[in-house]
Amino acid sequence: MSGGPVDATTTDAWKALTERRDGFEPDLRSWFADDPGRASRFTFEAADLHVDLSKNLLTDDLLTELLALAEQVGLEARRDAMLAGEHINVTEDRAVLHTALRLPADASLTVDGTDVVPAVHETLKKVYAFADRVRSGEWKGVTGERIHTVVNIGIGGSDLGPVMAYEALEPFRHPEIECRFISNIDPTDAGQKLKGLDPATTLFIVSSKTFSTLETLTNARLARSWLLDALGDDVDAADAVKKHFVAVSTALDKVANFGIDPENAFGFWDWVGGRYSVDSAIGTSLAIAVGPEGFAEFLGGFHAIDEHFRTTPLAQNVPALMGLLNVWYVNFFDAQTHAVLPYSQLLHRFPAYLQQLTMESNGKSVRWDGTAVTTDTGEVFWGEPGTNGQHAFYQLIHQGTRVIPADFIAFANPAYPLADGDIDVHELFLANFFAQTQALAFGKTAEQVRAEGTAENIVNARVFSGNRPTTSIMAPALTPVVLGQLIALYEHITFTQGVVWGIDSFDQWGVELGKQLALQVSPAVSGDADAAKQQDASTQSLIAYYREKRT
Ligand code: F6P
Repeated sequence: MSGGPVDATTTDAWKALTERRDGFEPDLRSWFADDPGRASRFTFEAADLHVDLSKNLLTDDLLTELLALAEQVGLEARRDAMLAGEHINVTEDRAVLHTALRLPADASLTVDGTDVVPAVHETLKKVYAFADRVRSGEWKGVTGERIHTVVNIGIGGSDLGPVMAYEALEPFRHPEIECRFISNIDPTDAGQKLKGLDPATTLFIVSSKTFSTLETLTNARLARSWLLDALGDDVDAADAVKKHFVAVSTALDKVANFGIDPENAFGFWDWVGGRYSVDSAIGTSLAIAVGPEGFAEFLGGFHAIDEHFRTTPLAQNVPALMGLLNVWYVNFFDAQTHAVLPYSQLLHRFPAYLQQLTMESNGKSVRWDGTAVTTDTGEVFWGEPGTNGQHAFYQLIHQGTRVIPADFIAFANPAYPLADGDIDVHELFLANFFAQTQALAFGKTAEQVRAEGTAENIVNARVFSGNRPTTSIMAPALTPVVLGQLIALYEHITFTQGVVWGIDSFDQWGVELGKQLALQVSPAVSGDADAAKQQDASTQSLIAYYREKRT
Protein backbone atom coordinates (compact mmCIF):
# COMPACT_ATOMS: atom_id res chain seq x y z
CA MET A 1 0.00 0.00 0.00
CA SER A 2 1.42 3.35 -0.88
CA GLY A 3 1.11 6.40 1.35
CA GLY A 4 -0.10 6.19 4.91
CA PRO A 5 -3.49 6.10 6.54
CA VAL A 6 -5.62 9.21 6.59
CA ASP A 7 -5.49 10.74 10.05
CA ALA A 8 -9.19 10.73 10.93
CA THR A 9 -8.71 13.48 13.48
CA THR A 10 -7.65 15.94 10.79
CA THR A 11 -10.75 15.45 8.64
CA ASP A 12 -13.61 17.92 8.36
CA ALA A 13 -15.95 15.18 9.53
CA TRP A 14 -13.98 14.72 12.75
CA LYS A 15 -14.11 18.46 13.32
CA ALA A 16 -17.88 18.40 12.80
CA LEU A 17 -18.21 15.45 15.19
CA THR A 18 -16.13 17.26 17.81
CA GLU A 19 -18.35 20.30 17.51
CA ARG A 20 -21.46 18.14 17.72
CA ARG A 21 -20.21 16.42 20.85
CA ASP A 22 -19.68 19.77 22.50
CA GLY A 23 -22.98 20.36 24.24
CA PHE A 24 -24.54 17.20 22.78
CA GLU A 25 -27.45 16.30 25.00
CA PRO A 26 -28.94 13.01 24.02
CA ASP A 27 -32.62 12.70 24.77
CA LEU A 28 -33.95 9.39 23.56
CA ARG A 29 -37.29 10.03 25.27
CA SER A 30 -38.08 13.10 23.19
CA TRP A 31 -36.29 11.81 20.11
CA PHE A 32 -38.74 8.92 20.07
CA ALA A 33 -41.75 10.94 21.22
CA ASP A 34 -41.23 13.64 18.58
CA ASP A 35 -40.29 11.37 15.73
CA PRO A 36 -42.61 8.43 14.99
CA GLY A 37 -40.36 7.33 12.13
CA ARG A 38 -37.21 7.05 14.24
CA ALA A 39 -37.37 3.33 14.93
CA SER A 40 -38.02 2.34 11.34
CA ARG A 41 -35.54 4.86 9.91
CA PHE A 42 -32.73 3.51 12.05
CA THR A 43 -33.58 -0.17 11.65
CA PHE A 44 -31.71 -2.08 8.96
CA GLU A 45 -31.69 -5.54 7.48
CA ALA A 46 -28.51 -7.43 6.64
CA ALA A 47 -29.27 -10.90 5.28
CA ASP A 48 -31.29 -12.52 8.13
CA LEU A 49 -30.18 -10.00 10.71
CA HIS A 50 -32.66 -7.33 11.79
CA VAL A 51 -30.65 -4.57 13.40
CA ASP A 52 -32.26 -1.73 15.32
CA LEU A 53 -29.87 1.18 15.89
CA SER A 54 -32.59 3.58 17.00
CA LYS A 55 -31.74 3.32 20.71
CA ASN A 56 -28.25 4.63 20.02
CA LEU A 57 -27.16 8.21 20.67
CA LEU A 58 -27.76 8.86 17.01
CA THR A 59 -29.46 11.64 15.09
CA ASP A 60 -29.85 12.20 11.37
CA ASP A 61 -27.25 14.96 11.38
CA LEU A 62 -24.84 12.81 13.32
CA LEU A 63 -25.35 9.96 10.88
CA THR A 64 -24.47 12.30 8.02
CA GLU A 65 -21.25 13.25 9.79
CA LEU A 66 -20.32 9.66 10.58
CA LEU A 67 -20.85 8.76 6.93
CA ALA A 68 -18.71 11.72 5.93
CA LEU A 69 -16.01 10.40 8.25
CA ALA A 70 -16.20 7.01 6.55
CA GLU A 71 -15.80 8.69 3.20
CA GLN A 72 -12.96 10.94 4.30
CA VAL A 73 -10.91 8.06 5.75
CA GLY A 74 -11.54 6.01 2.61
CA LEU A 75 -13.48 3.15 4.20
CA GLU A 76 -14.90 1.87 0.93
CA ALA A 77 -11.56 1.95 -0.86
CA ARG A 78 -9.89 0.10 2.00
CA ARG A 79 -12.72 -2.46 2.08
CA ASP A 80 -12.35 -2.99 -1.66
CA ALA A 81 -8.59 -3.34 -1.27
CA MET A 82 -9.12 -6.03 1.36
CA LEU A 83 -11.65 -7.90 -0.76
CA ALA A 84 -9.35 -7.71 -3.78
CA GLY A 85 -6.46 -9.32 -1.91
CA GLU A 86 -4.19 -6.30 -1.61
CA HIS A 87 -1.62 -6.64 1.15
CA ILE A 88 -3.48 -4.52 3.67
CA ASN A 89 -1.85 -6.47 6.51
CA VAL A 90 1.15 -4.23 6.06
CA THR A 91 3.33 -5.28 8.97
CA GLU A 92 3.21 -8.90 7.84
CA ASP A 93 3.02 -8.01 4.13
CA ARG A 94 -0.02 -10.23 3.63
CA ALA A 95 -3.37 -10.17 1.93
CA VAL A 96 -6.37 -10.40 4.26
CA LEU A 97 -8.78 -12.80 2.69
CA HIS A 98 -10.95 -14.57 5.21
CA THR A 99 -13.79 -13.46 2.91
CA ALA A 100 -12.35 -15.76 0.20
CA LEU A 101 -12.97 -18.75 2.49
CA ARG A 102 -16.68 -18.32 1.98
CA LEU A 103 -16.82 -17.45 -1.71
CA PRO A 104 -18.96 -19.86 -3.75
CA ALA A 105 -17.12 -22.47 -5.82
CA ASP A 106 -17.90 -20.69 -9.09
CA ALA A 107 -16.36 -17.40 -7.93
CA SER A 108 -12.79 -16.47 -8.69
CA LEU A 109 -10.33 -14.23 -6.89
CA THR A 110 -6.80 -13.80 -8.13
CA VAL A 111 -4.33 -12.96 -5.41
CA ASP A 112 -0.62 -12.55 -6.07
CA GLY A 113 -1.17 -14.18 -9.45
CA THR A 114 -3.23 -17.18 -8.28
CA ASP A 115 -6.96 -17.78 -8.20
CA VAL A 116 -7.46 -18.81 -4.56
CA VAL A 117 -11.04 -20.09 -4.86
CA PRO A 118 -10.26 -23.57 -6.31
CA ALA A 119 -7.80 -24.29 -3.47
CA VAL A 120 -10.35 -23.14 -0.88
CA HIS A 121 -12.95 -25.53 -2.27
CA GLU A 122 -10.50 -28.38 -2.68
CA THR A 123 -9.67 -28.11 1.01
CA LEU A 124 -13.33 -27.85 1.93
CA LYS A 125 -14.01 -30.99 -0.08
CA LYS A 126 -11.27 -32.80 1.82
CA VAL A 127 -12.58 -31.57 5.19
CA TYR A 128 -16.13 -32.56 4.26
CA ALA A 129 -15.07 -36.04 3.11
CA PHE A 130 -13.18 -36.53 6.36
CA ALA A 131 -16.11 -35.23 8.42
CA ASP A 132 -18.44 -37.63 6.63
CA ARG A 133 -16.15 -40.57 7.34
CA VAL A 134 -15.98 -39.73 11.04
CA ARG A 135 -19.73 -39.08 11.27
CA SER A 136 -20.68 -42.29 9.49
CA GLY A 137 -18.28 -44.43 11.50
CA GLU A 138 -16.27 -45.34 8.41
CA TRP A 139 -13.19 -43.74 10.00
CA LYS A 140 -11.90 -46.30 12.47
CA GLY A 141 -9.41 -46.01 15.28
CA VAL A 142 -6.45 -48.33 15.56
CA THR A 143 -8.51 -51.04 17.30
CA GLY A 144 -11.19 -50.91 14.62
CA GLU A 145 -13.76 -48.95 16.60
CA ARG A 146 -15.58 -45.87 15.36
CA ILE A 147 -14.89 -42.42 16.79
CA HIS A 148 -17.11 -41.05 19.55
CA THR A 149 -15.02 -38.13 20.79
CA VAL A 150 -13.18 -35.50 18.80
CA VAL A 151 -10.70 -33.40 20.76
CA ASN A 152 -9.59 -30.16 19.13
CA ILE A 153 -6.21 -29.00 20.42
CA GLY A 154 -5.56 -25.35 19.62
CA ILE A 155 -5.53 -21.91 21.20
CA GLY A 156 -6.68 -18.39 20.31
CA GLY A 157 -8.25 -18.43 16.89
CA SER A 158 -7.57 -22.15 16.60
CA ASP A 159 -9.85 -22.76 19.59
CA LEU A 160 -12.22 -19.88 20.32
CA GLY A 161 -14.11 -20.01 17.03
CA PRO A 162 -14.60 -23.79 16.93
CA VAL A 163 -15.63 -24.04 20.59
CA MET A 164 -17.95 -21.03 20.39
CA ALA A 165 -19.67 -22.36 17.25
CA TYR A 166 -19.83 -25.92 18.64
CA GLU A 167 -21.65 -24.58 21.69
CA ALA A 168 -23.88 -22.27 19.66
CA LEU A 169 -24.98 -25.02 17.28
CA GLU A 170 -25.63 -27.64 19.93
CA PRO A 171 -29.07 -28.51 18.50
CA PHE A 172 -27.46 -29.33 15.14
CA ARG A 173 -24.76 -31.68 16.43
CA HIS A 174 -24.25 -35.34 15.57
CA PRO A 175 -25.87 -37.19 18.49
CA GLU A 176 -23.11 -39.78 18.92
CA ILE A 177 -20.03 -37.61 18.63
CA GLU A 178 -18.88 -35.28 21.36
CA CYS A 179 -16.25 -32.61 20.76
CA ARG A 180 -13.95 -31.36 23.47
CA PHE A 181 -11.48 -28.51 23.24
CA ILE A 182 -8.06 -28.34 24.89
CA SER A 183 -6.41 -24.94 24.71
CA ASN A 184 -4.68 -23.90 27.91
CA ILE A 185 -1.14 -24.98 28.75
CA ASP A 186 -2.41 -25.27 32.32
CA PRO A 187 -2.25 -29.07 32.55
CA THR A 188 -5.64 -28.97 34.25
CA ASP A 189 -7.21 -28.35 30.86
CA ALA A 190 -5.78 -31.48 29.23
CA GLY A 191 -6.25 -33.40 32.48
CA GLN A 192 -9.94 -32.55 32.68
CA LYS A 193 -10.74 -32.94 29.00
CA LEU A 194 -9.01 -36.31 28.69
CA LYS A 195 -10.69 -37.62 31.82
CA GLY A 196 -13.04 -40.49 31.11
CA LEU A 197 -12.20 -40.74 27.42
CA ASP A 198 -11.75 -44.07 25.69
CA PRO A 199 -8.56 -43.77 23.61
CA ALA A 200 -9.85 -46.33 21.13
CA THR A 201 -12.74 -44.03 20.15
CA THR A 202 -10.99 -40.66 20.48
CA LEU A 203 -9.67 -38.59 17.60
CA PHE A 204 -7.43 -35.55 18.08
CA ILE A 205 -7.35 -32.58 15.73
CA VAL A 206 -4.23 -30.51 16.28
CA SER A 207 -5.20 -27.05 15.04
CA SER A 208 -2.48 -24.48 14.69
CA LYS A 209 -1.91 -22.03 11.89
CA THR A 210 1.81 -21.89 12.56
CA PHE A 211 2.19 -25.32 14.14
CA SER A 212 4.68 -23.75 16.47
CA THR A 213 2.51 -22.47 19.31
CA LEU A 214 3.91 -23.66 22.64
CA GLU A 215 0.56 -24.43 24.22
CA THR A 216 -0.76 -26.42 21.28
CA LEU A 217 2.36 -28.44 20.65
CA THR A 218 2.74 -29.21 24.36
CA ASN A 219 -0.88 -30.33 24.58
CA ALA A 220 -0.54 -32.34 21.36
CA ARG A 221 2.46 -34.19 22.82
CA LEU A 222 0.56 -34.77 26.08
CA ALA A 223 -2.36 -36.17 24.09
CA ARG A 224 -0.09 -38.40 22.04
CA SER A 225 1.55 -39.83 25.17
CA TRP A 226 -1.85 -40.28 26.81
CA LEU A 227 -3.13 -42.12 23.75
CA LEU A 228 -0.15 -44.42 23.38
CA ASP A 229 0.06 -45.18 27.12
CA ALA A 230 -3.64 -45.91 27.29
CA LEU A 231 -3.68 -48.09 24.19
CA GLY A 232 -0.76 -50.14 25.51
CA ASP A 233 1.90 -52.15 23.73
CA ASP A 234 -0.49 -54.18 21.61
CA VAL A 235 -0.88 -51.42 19.06
CA ASP A 236 1.68 -50.02 16.68
CA ALA A 237 2.47 -46.45 17.81
CA ALA A 238 2.84 -44.98 14.33
CA ASP A 239 -0.40 -46.60 13.22
CA ALA A 240 -2.18 -45.30 16.32
CA VAL A 241 -1.00 -41.74 15.69
CA LYS A 242 -2.06 -42.04 12.06
CA LYS A 243 -5.57 -43.13 12.99
CA HIS A 244 -6.11 -40.87 16.00
CA PHE A 245 -4.39 -37.64 15.01
CA VAL A 246 -5.14 -35.22 12.21
CA ALA A 247 -3.91 -31.67 11.85
CA VAL A 248 -4.97 -28.32 10.50
CA SER A 249 -2.19 -25.90 9.67
CA THR A 250 -0.52 -23.67 7.11
CA ALA A 251 2.79 -25.38 7.99
CA LEU A 252 2.31 -28.89 6.63
CA ASP A 253 6.04 -29.70 6.91
CA LYS A 254 5.87 -29.20 10.67
CA VAL A 255 2.76 -31.38 10.82
CA ALA A 256 4.73 -34.21 9.19
CA ASN A 257 7.58 -33.76 11.67
CA PHE A 258 5.11 -34.27 14.49
CA GLY A 259 4.31 -37.69 13.02
CA ILE A 260 0.91 -36.87 11.57
CA ASP A 261 0.28 -38.38 8.16
CA PRO A 262 0.24 -35.49 5.60
CA GLU A 263 -2.76 -37.31 4.10
CA ASN A 264 -4.58 -36.42 7.30
CA ALA A 265 -3.65 -32.77 7.31
CA PHE A 266 -5.85 -29.93 6.15
CA GLY A 267 -4.19 -26.77 5.01
CA PHE A 268 -5.02 -23.12 4.87
CA TRP A 269 -3.16 -19.99 3.92
CA ASP A 270 -1.22 -17.12 5.45
CA TRP A 271 -3.89 -14.71 4.24
CA VAL A 272 -6.26 -16.10 6.88
CA GLY A 273 -5.65 -14.54 10.29
CA GLY A 274 -5.98 -16.89 13.27
CA ARG A 275 -8.95 -14.99 14.70
CA TYR A 276 -10.63 -15.04 11.28
CA SER A 277 -10.15 -18.75 10.71
CA VAL A 278 -13.18 -20.58 12.11
CA ASP A 279 -14.50 -20.73 8.55
CA SER A 280 -11.32 -22.41 7.27
CA ALA A 281 -10.21 -25.99 7.98
CA ILE A 282 -9.72 -24.76 11.56
CA GLY A 283 -13.45 -25.45 11.78
CA THR A 284 -12.96 -29.18 11.08
CA SER A 285 -14.26 -30.19 14.54
CA LEU A 286 -17.35 -28.10 13.85
CA ALA A 287 -17.76 -29.68 10.40
CA ILE A 288 -17.72 -33.08 12.09
CA ALA A 289 -20.24 -31.93 14.70
CA VAL A 290 -22.76 -30.25 12.40
CA GLY A 291 -21.91 -32.08 9.19
CA PRO A 292 -20.77 -30.75 5.82
CA GLU A 293 -24.22 -29.40 5.04
CA GLY A 294 -24.38 -27.45 8.27
CA PHE A 295 -20.85 -26.15 7.74
CA ALA A 296 -21.67 -25.09 4.17
CA GLU A 297 -24.70 -23.19 5.49
CA PHE A 298 -22.47 -21.56 8.10
CA LEU A 299 -20.14 -20.37 5.31
CA GLY A 300 -23.15 -19.17 3.33
CA GLY A 301 -24.09 -16.97 6.27
CA PHE A 302 -20.66 -15.32 6.29
CA HIS A 303 -20.83 -14.77 2.55
CA ALA A 304 -24.26 -13.13 2.74
CA ILE A 305 -22.88 -10.51 5.15
CA ASP A 306 -19.70 -10.12 3.09
CA GLU A 307 -21.92 -9.28 0.14
CA HIS A 308 -23.96 -6.89 2.26
CA PHE A 309 -20.75 -5.17 3.40
CA ARG A 310 -19.35 -5.10 -0.13
CA THR A 311 -22.40 -3.82 -1.97
CA THR A 312 -24.69 -1.89 0.38
CA PRO A 313 -24.34 1.88 0.40
CA LEU A 314 -22.76 2.96 3.66
CA ALA A 315 -25.95 4.71 4.80
CA GLN A 316 -27.59 1.27 5.08
CA ASN A 317 -24.49 -0.82 5.57
CA VAL A 318 -24.95 -2.43 8.98
CA PRO A 319 -21.34 -3.36 9.86
CA ALA A 320 -20.13 0.05 8.67
CA LEU A 321 -22.81 1.85 10.68
CA MET A 322 -22.12 -0.18 13.81
CA GLY A 323 -18.37 0.37 13.45
CA LEU A 324 -18.88 4.11 13.01
CA LEU A 325 -21.13 4.25 16.07
CA ASN A 326 -18.45 2.47 18.06
CA VAL A 327 -15.98 5.16 16.98
CA TRP A 328 -18.47 7.80 18.09
CA TYR A 329 -18.65 6.25 21.55
CA VAL A 330 -14.95 5.46 21.97
CA ASN A 331 -13.60 8.74 20.70
CA PHE A 332 -16.31 11.21 21.65
CA PHE A 333 -17.80 9.68 24.82
CA ASP A 334 -14.64 8.07 26.15
CA ALA A 335 -16.40 4.68 26.18
CA GLN A 336 -13.77 2.23 27.29
CA THR A 337 -15.78 -0.93 27.00
CA HIS A 338 -18.50 -2.43 24.83
CA ALA A 339 -20.88 -5.09 26.10
CA VAL A 340 -22.19 -7.91 23.93
CA LEU A 341 -25.22 -9.48 25.57
CA PRO A 342 -26.68 -12.49 23.78
CA TYR A 343 -30.16 -13.49 24.90
CA SER A 344 -29.30 -17.05 23.99
CA GLN A 345 -27.63 -19.48 26.34
CA LEU A 346 -26.19 -21.17 23.25
CA LEU A 347 -24.09 -18.05 22.57
CA HIS A 348 -22.42 -18.17 25.97
CA ARG A 349 -18.95 -18.28 24.39
CA PHE A 350 -19.69 -15.58 21.80
CA PRO A 351 -18.38 -12.64 23.87
CA ALA A 352 -15.13 -14.53 24.56
CA TYR A 353 -14.79 -15.23 20.85
CA LEU A 354 -15.37 -11.55 20.08
CA GLN A 355 -12.73 -10.54 22.58
CA GLN A 356 -10.01 -12.04 20.42
CA LEU A 357 -11.59 -10.82 17.20
CA THR A 358 -11.94 -7.22 18.34
CA MET A 359 -9.15 -6.73 20.85
CA GLU A 360 -6.37 -8.61 19.08
CA SER A 361 -7.38 -6.72 15.94
CA ASN A 362 -7.78 -3.18 17.23
CA GLY A 363 -5.73 -3.08 20.44
CA LYS A 364 -2.96 -1.07 18.78
CA SER A 365 -1.04 2.14 19.48
CA VAL A 366 0.59 2.57 16.10
CA ARG A 367 -0.98 2.91 12.68
CA TRP A 368 -0.20 0.77 9.71
CA ASP A 369 2.56 3.11 8.57
CA GLY A 370 4.29 2.84 11.96
CA THR A 371 3.28 6.27 13.21
CA ALA A 372 1.49 6.71 16.52
CA VAL A 373 -2.28 6.60 16.56
CA THR A 374 -3.86 9.99 16.89
CA THR A 375 -6.79 9.00 19.08
CA ASP A 376 -7.95 6.20 21.36
CA THR A 377 -8.43 2.79 19.79
CA GLY A 378 -9.62 -0.65 20.82
CA GLU A 379 -12.32 -0.70 23.47
CA VAL A 380 -12.66 -3.72 25.76
CA PHE A 381 -15.36 -6.13 24.59
CA TRP A 382 -17.04 -8.25 27.19
CA GLY A 383 -20.35 -9.84 28.03
CA GLU A 384 -22.41 -12.78 29.20
CA PRO A 385 -25.76 -14.10 28.15
CA GLY A 386 -28.92 -12.48 29.44
CA THR A 387 -30.71 -12.90 31.69
CA ASN A 388 -27.79 -14.06 33.87
CA GLY A 389 -25.96 -10.78 33.34
CA GLN A 390 -29.02 -8.85 34.53
CA HIS A 391 -28.46 -10.28 37.99
CA ALA A 392 -24.74 -9.62 37.96
CA PHE A 393 -23.31 -6.60 36.16
CA TYR A 394 -26.22 -4.78 34.48
CA GLN A 395 -26.42 -2.51 37.54
CA LEU A 396 -23.31 -0.75 36.27
CA ILE A 397 -24.66 -0.42 32.73
CA HIS A 398 -27.90 1.10 34.06
CA GLN A 399 -26.61 3.40 36.75
CA GLY A 400 -22.80 3.54 36.58
CA THR A 401 -20.87 6.65 35.60
CA ARG A 402 -19.47 5.43 32.29
CA VAL A 403 -21.04 5.04 28.88
CA ILE A 404 -21.14 1.35 27.99
CA PRO A 405 -22.59 0.79 24.53
CA ALA A 406 -24.25 -2.62 24.50
CA ASP A 407 -25.33 -4.98 21.71
CA PHE A 408 -28.34 -7.10 22.61
CA ILE A 409 -28.77 -10.22 20.47
CA ALA A 410 -31.92 -12.38 20.41
CA PHE A 411 -33.78 -14.90 18.27
CA ALA A 412 -37.48 -15.12 17.53
CA ASN A 413 -37.49 -18.90 17.84
CA PRO A 414 -36.05 -20.81 20.76
CA ALA A 415 -33.86 -23.88 20.47
CA TYR A 416 -35.86 -25.43 23.30
CA PRO A 417 -39.50 -24.32 23.22
CA LEU A 418 -40.45 -25.07 26.82
CA ALA A 419 -43.55 -23.97 28.69
CA ASP A 420 -44.15 -23.25 32.34
CA GLY A 421 -47.84 -24.16 32.47
CA ASP A 422 -49.47 -21.66 30.09
CA ILE A 423 -46.38 -19.51 29.90
CA ASP A 424 -44.10 -19.78 26.89
CA VAL A 425 -40.75 -19.39 28.65
CA HIS A 426 -39.04 -18.04 25.55
CA GLU A 427 -41.53 -15.18 25.56
CA LEU A 428 -40.72 -14.43 29.17
CA PHE A 429 -37.05 -14.48 28.19
CA LEU A 430 -37.62 -12.11 25.26
CA ALA A 431 -39.68 -9.79 27.45
CA ASN A 432 -36.47 -9.31 29.44
CA PHE A 433 -34.51 -8.63 26.27
CA PHE A 434 -36.99 -5.93 25.17
CA ALA A 435 -37.32 -4.49 28.66
CA GLN A 436 -33.60 -4.01 29.18
CA THR A 437 -33.01 -1.88 26.10
CA GLN A 438 -36.13 0.12 27.00
CA ALA A 439 -34.86 0.75 30.51
CA LEU A 440 -31.43 1.73 29.24
CA ALA A 441 -32.80 4.09 26.62
CA PHE A 442 -35.61 5.78 28.51
CA GLY A 443 -34.67 5.34 32.15
CA LYS A 444 -36.94 6.40 34.97
CA THR A 445 -37.32 9.98 36.13
CA ALA A 446 -37.46 11.23 39.72
CA GLU A 447 -41.10 12.12 39.14
CA GLN A 448 -41.88 8.57 38.15
CA VAL A 449 -40.02 7.24 41.16
CA ARG A 450 -41.87 9.63 43.49
CA ALA A 451 -45.21 8.70 41.93
CA GLU A 452 -44.57 5.16 43.15
CA GLY A 453 -44.57 6.49 46.72
CA THR A 454 -40.81 6.17 47.20
CA ALA A 455 -39.38 7.87 50.29
CA GLU A 456 -37.59 11.07 49.27
CA ASN A 457 -34.22 9.99 50.68
CA ILE A 458 -33.98 7.09 48.23
CA VAL A 459 -35.47 8.73 45.16
CA ASN A 460 -32.11 9.50 43.57
CA ALA A 461 -30.87 5.95 44.09
CA ARG A 462 -33.88 4.71 42.15
CA VAL A 463 -33.61 7.12 39.23
CA PHE A 464 -32.37 5.78 35.89
CA SER A 465 -30.85 8.43 33.68
CA GLY A 466 -31.64 6.62 30.41
CA ASN A 467 -29.81 7.60 27.20
CA ARG A 468 -27.60 4.55 27.55
CA PRO A 469 -26.95 3.35 24.02
CA THR A 470 -27.93 -0.08 22.79
CA THR A 471 -28.20 -1.90 19.49
CA SER A 472 -30.75 -4.70 19.19
CA ILE A 473 -29.87 -7.50 16.80
CA MET A 474 -32.55 -10.08 16.07
CA ALA A 475 -32.80 -13.05 13.72
CA PRO A 476 -35.41 -15.74 13.16
CA ALA A 477 -33.40 -18.48 14.90
CA LEU A 478 -29.84 -19.41 15.82
CA THR A 479 -29.01 -21.62 12.84
CA PRO A 480 -25.62 -22.28 11.17
CA VAL A 481 -26.39 -19.65 8.55
CA VAL A 482 -27.33 -17.02 11.13
CA LEU A 483 -24.27 -17.77 13.25
CA GLY A 484 -22.07 -17.22 10.18
CA GLN A 485 -23.83 -13.91 9.62
CA LEU A 486 -23.28 -12.77 13.19
CA ILE A 487 -19.57 -13.55 13.07
CA ALA A 488 -19.08 -11.80 9.73
CA LEU A 489 -21.02 -8.81 11.05
CA TYR A 490 -18.53 -8.36 13.88
CA GLU A 491 -15.54 -9.00 11.59
CA HIS A 492 -16.58 -6.08 9.43
CA ILE A 493 -17.47 -3.85 12.38
CA THR A 494 -13.93 -4.46 13.64
CA PHE A 495 -12.51 -3.69 10.21
CA THR A 496 -14.47 -0.43 9.98
CA GLN A 497 -13.13 0.79 13.31
CA GLY A 498 -9.60 -0.20 12.32
CA VAL A 499 -9.86 1.80 9.10
CA VAL A 500 -11.00 4.93 10.93
CA TRP A 501 -8.14 4.58 13.38
CA GLY A 502 -5.66 3.86 10.58
CA ILE A 503 -4.42 0.66 12.18
CA ASP A 504 -3.50 -2.76 10.83
CA SER A 505 -6.29 -4.86 12.31
CA PHE A 506 -4.67 -8.06 11.10
CA ASP A 507 -1.36 -8.34 12.91
CA GLN A 508 -0.87 -9.18 16.62
CA TRP A 509 2.67 -8.23 17.58
CA GLY A 510 1.46 -7.47 21.09
CA VAL A 511 1.33 -11.14 22.01
CA GLU A 512 4.96 -11.82 21.08
CA LEU A 513 6.88 -10.37 24.02
CA GLY A 514 5.10 -12.51 26.60
CA LYS A 515 5.77 -15.62 24.50
CA GLN A 516 9.50 -14.81 24.27
CA LEU A 517 9.82 -14.06 27.95
CA ALA A 518 8.02 -17.26 28.95
CA LEU A 519 10.72 -19.24 27.13
CA GLN A 520 13.43 -17.18 28.77
CA VAL A 521 11.95 -17.50 32.28
CA SER A 522 11.22 -21.20 31.95
CA PRO A 523 14.74 -22.48 33.00
CA ALA A 524 14.61 -20.27 36.09
CA VAL A 525 11.27 -21.78 37.08
CA SER A 526 12.84 -25.22 36.76
CA GLY A 527 15.71 -24.30 39.10
CA ASP A 528 18.47 -22.90 36.88
CA ALA A 529 20.14 -20.46 39.31
CA ASP A 530 21.93 -18.46 36.60
CA ALA A 531 18.72 -17.98 34.67
CA ALA A 532 16.99 -16.93 37.90
CA LYS A 533 19.62 -14.26 38.53
CA GLN A 534 18.83 -12.67 35.19
CA GLN A 535 15.26 -11.94 36.19
CA ASP A 536 14.12 -8.72 37.83
CA ALA A 537 13.84 -8.70 41.64
CA SER A 538 10.08 -9.18 41.71
CA THR A 539 10.17 -12.12 39.33
CA GLN A 540 13.09 -13.69 41.22
CA SER A 541 11.17 -13.51 44.45
CA LEU A 542 7.98 -14.91 42.90
CA ILE A 543 9.92 -17.81 41.41
CA ALA A 544 11.62 -18.40 44.76
CA TYR A 545 8.18 -18.53 46.42
CA TYR A 546 7.01 -21.03 43.84
CA ARG A 547 10.06 -23.25 44.32
CA GLU A 548 9.69 -23.18 48.08
CA LYS A 549 6.00 -24.09 48.04
CA ARG A 550 5.99 -26.60 45.23
CA THR A 551 5.70 -30.05 46.78
O1 F6P B 1 -1.99 -15.27 20.40
C1 F6P B 1 -1.45 -15.05 19.15
C2 F6P B 1 -1.92 -16.03 18.14
O2 F6P B 1 -1.06 -15.95 17.08
C3 F6P B 1 -3.36 -15.80 17.69
O3 F6P B 1 -3.49 -14.77 16.79
C4 F6P B 1 -3.67 -17.13 17.13
O4 F6P B 1 -5.03 -17.29 16.90
C5 F6P B 1 -3.12 -18.01 18.22
O5 F6P B 1 -1.94 -17.36 18.64
C6 F6P B 1 -2.83 -19.43 17.85
O6 F6P B 1 -1.89 -19.51 16.82
P1 F6P B 1 -1.68 -20.83 16.00
O7 F6P B 1 -2.97 -21.14 15.30
O8 F6P B 1 -0.58 -20.54 15.05
O9 F6P B 1 -1.33 -21.93 16.95
